[in-house]
Amino acid sequence: MDKGFFDRTSPEFAARRAEARKLLDSLDPAMQDGAVTADPARQAWFEAVYDLAKGDPARVPWANLAPHPLSQAWVAAQAEGLNGLRILDVGCGLGDNAECFAAAGAHVTAFDFVGEAITWAKQRFPESKVAYAQGDLFALPDAWLQAFDLIHECYTLQALPPDLLLQALAALKSALAPGGRLLIVARAREEAEEFKGPPWPLPPSIFEGAKRQGLTTLSIEDIPAVPGGGSRHWRALLRRAEDA
Ligand SMILES: C[S@@+](CC[C@H](N)C(=O)[O-])C[C@H]1O[C@@H](n2cnc3c(N)ncnc32)[C@H](O)[C@@H]1O
Repeated sequence: MDKGFFDRTSPEFAARRAEARKLLDSLDPAMQDGAVTADPARQAWFEAVYDLAKGDPARVPWANLAPHPLSQAWVAAQAEGLNGLRILDVGCGLGDNAECFAAAGAHVTAFDFVGEAITWAKQRFPESKVAYAQGDLFALPDAWLQAFDLIHECYTLQALPPDLLLQALAALKSALAPGGRLLIVARAREEAEEFKGPPWPLPPSIFEGAKRQGLTTLSIEDIPAVPGGGSRHWRALLRRAEDA
């Protein structure tokens, strides 16, 4: 395939993405009436995204074919390094974030509940050291309980209807070893701000909710929107207490 096909800065890539977005929005139950009942985590819709893409990353709305800049910068800033840490990447999609952590020397497990995403990530990174697995955040395997020093989540919490967030935080905590840390990269909003998801930008109260689940805050960065560019984001680091 022509190399330009994968150039995410090209107008052709943008046009294919816009076309896919229209179709995907029309299929998304959360876009129709705001209510998602039978399939609250919208797994069927996520499966349709990867299936309908037919190998074209332009048709996967979040696939940037590069690590998220906020995650990548965080990795680069770790003076003590990530060498040897056991890291879990949640909702890994096509794998770029997981690969970024693995390149820093971490032992990375990355999972997504869509099997096609996992197959695709493995195809993109055939020499990868990342252990890719199909799995559901709400049904983590026993072997992952308390098994990780760091969990990275980028854009998966904001893809969940707000009423699933506390359950999601509890699941994330369950996979952290005592003292382990959770890195969240997500769109941000004010508590009272009007918004219509998906995605559902996270309000500041998410950190209170996390605290109630036993995850205390180490740092919260509130990264403002760039006019004509990116949205407002949180980059937050939380910690599971030794006795939580
Ligand atoms: C918005 S995408 C972000 C993908 C990736 N983290 C990134 O930053 O490019 C959310 C991903 O999480 C996956 N996902 C959503 N809910 C999940 C769940 N309950 N368990 C596992 N994966 C989930 C979706 O299939 C999708 O690949």
